[in-house]
Amino acid sequence: MRQVARLGRGAVLGLLLAVHAVAAFEPITVGIAIGAATALTGYLSYTDLYCRFAECCREKQPLNASALKLELEEKLFGQHLATEVILKALTGFKNNKNPKKPLTLSLHGWAGTGKNFVSQIVAEHLHSKGLRSNFVHLFVSTLHFPHEQQIKLYQDQLQGWIRGNVSTCASSVFIFDEMDKLHPGVIDAIKPFLDYYEQVDGVSYRKAIFIFLSNAGGDLITKIALDFWRAGRKREDIQLKDLEPVLSVGVFNNKHSGLWHSGLIDRNLIDYFIPFLPLEYRHVKMCVRAEMRARGSAIDEDIVTRVADEMTFFPKSEKIYSDKGCKTVQSRLDFH
Ligand SMILES: Nc1ncnc2c1ncn2[C@@H]1O[C@H](COP(=O)(O)OP(=O)(O)O)[C@@H](O)[C@H]1O
Ligand SMILES: *[C@@H]1O[C@H](CO)[C@@H](O)[C@H](O)[C@H]1NC(C)=O
Ligand SMILES: *[C@@H]1O[C@H](CO)[C@@H](O)[C@H](O)[C@H]1NC(C)=O
Repeated sequence: MRQVARLGRGAVLGLLLAVHAVAAFEPITVGIAIGAATALTGYLSYTDLYCRFAECCREKQPLNASALKLELEEKLFGQHLATEVILKALTGFKNNKNPKKPLTLSLHGWAGTGKNFVSQIVAEHLHSKGLRSNFVHLFVSTLHFPHEQQIKLYQDQLQGWIRGNVSTCASSVFIFDEMDKLHPGVIDAIKPFLDYYEQVDGVSYRKAIFIFLSNAGGDLITKIALDFWRAGRKREDIQLKDLEPVLSVGVFNNKHSGLWHSGLIDRNLIDYFIPFLPLEYRHVKMCVRAEMRARGSAIDEDIVTRVADEMTFFPKSEKIYSDKGCKTVQSRLDFH
């Protein structure tokens, strides 16, 4: 043992990497090897050491719910419903040792209201490298699945990717942006993975998370928000029950939702429909300030007002909601 102990750290690491490579095949031998390696290094566990050098898929790593809550409350403006539902959905799912199906979230709302922004935050709390993680996959319809004639190819590709990635890491995260521009057939291809099966061809998908983003339903959400506004009621008083039923039916019947008459809704495979409210003038200002802070510059209220004033607002009569949400704020700030 003493001789072994004199091996350099590099050798220990090499041993550990080798151990990791056989991990899939010989659990018992590996257990012993890990024990030995742990004894060698003394204080660092095998995973700690290995994961210091390579990104690890830590399936069992709990979600730090308070950290996620803090970040959403601090950074996501004007979306009290989305914040609440996302927190609830993720903590519930991550605390469940034996989920019966993967978690599927469908985020809806006007452009630039924070759907991609939230997905990025959520991804970072699940895998610390966020969108750059090997276990987080972003698919953009117009980029990855552009041609309607090639649906069959996309279906096969997508099934293969998801199967491959979930086999490697059970807690993989898949984000589908621009669902409204996706042919419904493509998403139906992944239906078996989202269902209540214990395994599909030897792979369990139950720990995976699927997030769908779309502008579909944005008009319905806006209408309800506007009704509240016109009735003089507070935005924060809008409750999920005011929106969720309208949304799931509306999205189902909307040809351009990507989920149109899709088996996903039919079979209740979407766990949560999450509405994003249209952003008001004050929220746009908050986005400008956040961007200034991110750039490390002092907050100049004159510029904040000027940038916000440049945005266009709807409906024509009242001009309450920003057409593009906070989407072009960053580039506009460059001109000031
Ligand atoms: N509700 C919001 N709170 C804070 N920032 C936001 C919000 N909505 C949008 N933004 C900002 O605008 C940018 C574009 O929003 P994005 O999330 O891409 O919109 P979409 O809803 O179209 O996915 C984000 O990167 C973020 O900086
Ligand atoms: C969770 O996040 C909070 C706030 O960022 C932090 O103070 C706390 O230490 C974290 N808890 C764990 C277990 O990592
Ligand atoms: C995982 O998904 C990516 C697409 O995000 C794909 O390129 C890759 O081949 C997949 N990996 C496996 C093992 O299937």
